[in-house]
Amino acid sequence: MKVLEAKFVQGFIRMCNDGWEQGWHERNGGNLSYRMKKEEAESVKEELKTDGEWKAIGTSVPKLAGEYFLVTGSGKYFRNVILDPEDSLAIVEIDEKGEDYRICWGLVNGGRPTSELPSHLMNHEVKMQATGGKHRVIYHAHTTNVIALTFVLPLEDEVFTRELWEMATECPVVFPDGIGVVGWMVPGGRDIAVATSELMKKYDVAIWAHHGMFASGEDFDLTFGLMHTVEKSAEILVKMLSMRSDKLQTIIPQNFRDLAVDFKVTLPERFLYEK
Ligand code: 13P
Ligand code: ZN
Repeated sequence: MKVLEAKFVQGFIRMCNDGWEQGWHERNGGNLSYRMKKEEAESVKEELKTDGEWKAIGTSVPKLAGEYFLVTGSGKYFRNVILDPEDSLAIVEIDEKGEDYRICWGLVNGGRPTSELPSHLMNHEVKMQATGGKHRVIYHAHTTNVIALTFVLPLEDEVFTRELWEMATECPVVFPDGIGVVGWMVPGGRDIAVATSELMKKYDVAIWAHHGMFASGEDFDLTFGLMHTVEKSAEILVKMLSMRSDKLQTIIPQNFRDLAVDFKVTLPERFLYEK
């Protein structure tokens, strides 16, 4: 099968375009990666090169040895993915040590995978372990309202989780484990990858202060839906704070406990503190 005919590739392209339409991907902002299933890699094998040069990932991901990923290219614009996926995307293979990658398909006009490859792969490694292989998608977006909030809320997991839960009743059901926050760091390297993947052991979402968000999920729908839900909640909070600085009424800790029972989710008590 041709790469562009594969269902997972079409789902990936659609998600890039959906993110662009949300306004989360100015210029080359944001990146997306998908850990391919064995049968998916097999199905497009006819188009995968095996003579690409091995290059350093910049970190070590031994548990991802031999895996194939579909990723966005560095400097590529999400708005162009749908028009020319072979220019914007790449399939990369990880070597048997988990230290190098090589390009097997895509980036036909040159280039390299996203500069956030260390963060993507370290997050994939953590989430693959934590979910018994279920999570396959890691998504980084420059979500406007979440970024705005990182200037006015304390950069604490408890505060972001609680404030965003309060803004929409469904939020604690969509992200019951909460959200992690990384203070400002230089993007694109190993240090921010280590900090983010540490949070991903506990959460499916991590916020990068003054930069954006990372989300992890099983498939494109769930991962996009998670990003969308968190960002929409942030939008409501920005609107609320623009109208007045305090709430006249809100969802209180006991409401969350009642919701948890009916919706069969466990909500950690550390997010249900008295204010
Ligand atoms: P890339 O173009 O290298 O993917 O970088 C975009 C980005 O959002 C960096 O954090
Ligand atoms: Zn970014």
